Amino acid sequence: MTDGTGFPNKKKFGVIIGGSGLVGGGIDYYFKKKLGYDILAPNSKKLSIRDPRDIEAYFKSYRPDFIVNSAIASLDSDPKLSFEINYLGSINLAKVAAALGIPYIFISSAAVLPDGVNLSEEEHLPLSAGLGNYAKSKLMGELTLQHLKETEGLDYTIVRLAIVYGQHDHKIQGFHRLLFAIADQSMPLLFTKKGICHSYTNARKVPYFIRHIIDRRQEFGGQTFHFIDPEPVALGRLILTIRDILGLKRPRAIYLPLPLARFGARCIQQFLRLLIKMGIDARLPQELMFLSSFYQTQILSSAKLRNSSFVDPFPVQTVYGQIPDLIQYYLTRWEQLNLIPSFNKEFFDPQHLAEEFLLSPQELLADIHSKKIEPFQTFTDIS
Ligand SMILES: NC(=O)c1ccc[n+]([C@@H]2O[C@H](COP(=O)([O-])OP(=O)(O)OC[C@H]3O[C@@H](n4cnc5c(N)ncnc54)[C@H](OP(=O)(O)O)[C@@H]3O)[C@@H](O)[C@H]2O)c1
Repeated sequence: MTDGTGFPNKKKFGVIIGGSGLVGGGIDYYFKKKLGYDILAPNSKKLSIRDPRDIEAYFKSYRPDFIVNSAIASLDSDPKLSFEINYLGSINLAKVAAALGIPYIFISSAAVLPDGVNLSEEEHLPLSAGLGNYAKSKLMGELTLQHLKETEGLDYTIVRLAIVYGQHDHKIQGFHRLLFAIADQSMPLLFTKKGICHSYTNARKVPYFIRHIIDRRQEFGGQTFHFIDPEPVALGRLILTIRDILGLKRPRAIYLPLPLARFGARCIQQFLRLLIKMGIDARLPQELMFLSSFYQTQILSSAKLRNSSFVDPFPVQTVYGQIPDLIQYYLTRWEQLNLIPSFNKEFFDPQHLAEEFLLSPQELLADIHSKKIEPFQTFTDIS
């Protein structure tokens, strides 16, 4: 029996590392709920890939058909943590996959690439001491996977993602940090240059690709793929679109030159040092860590993906199309967590139910009981 792709419709057993994260969480959900696969997605307390004994003990108990690794240390981790989790941990998992003779899917990042346009899968930054901990550890991981293919017959695929957008980023990183800075109105001007463009990755599509490549090792084994939306996105325009949808005045449509932005970042750094000396725990905002990339275009080539057998499940979905949903999801969440002040409730409470709950619960209850409003789910599939 096949699933329409010509491949056996066999339910597989997989291990997803990083399954509580933005990318891994989506893969875990899709594989378990939509495909009905047997999936284990241990959190880092159950299995820390930093500890090789944890890995060994885990895979003595479980023998999966594939491993997906989407774990990463926090972006601002020190060299030791970045090296141990992003590199050593990833390679130890790869060695398990090689020993078991199963595919290993490694989620990597555009951080290993230089700036520029039409960047192919063959390209990467030169490995050097000057690279940031994140990019360095990811790049070393990629290079060792290629080495393990040659020396230990590892069957791997590297999936390089660009700026990822999607729901459930509970750490508020990357694109969602930008969204946060706009909603929080902590971005007075545009921290970019006119015309600067980047590639984006829709988190919702990633699981479809992973499923596709797990089933087709001959086509995808031993290779790197950029998994990105076909069209790059201009950062300035994206920020202003989000601002307008939110009905805000800031950031103003003024492009702040990089030297001035750098000067501002240095001032904040000095201020943080002072706070730390005073015993106050404070960190540099992540958006400032990646400041220079806001001023450089980085567009990955999607030609290899386009020419592969993978068919985009949502070809018309772009980051622009997803902004209203993302705003609704994140603003609700951030407001409930008291991370941002009360926002325009039309976005996430169009029926004003939360407002009624707060101010007039009796009327709300009466409306519900008289079926004037029906806020409950109808569970038609449960008999
Ligand atoms: N988000 C982006 O914009 C973006 C862009 C390009 C590439 N990527 C790549 O996509 C992948 C996933 O990123 P993400 O944004 O989903 O990250 P994330 O949301 O920060 O999730 C990180 C995951 O790693 C796990 N983890 C951390 N330390 C671990 C350890 N010692 N042992 C086992 N698991 C550990 C965490 O588990 P716990 O919560 O249990 O600690 C969490 O599930 C990474 O490879 C990243 O390089 C992401």
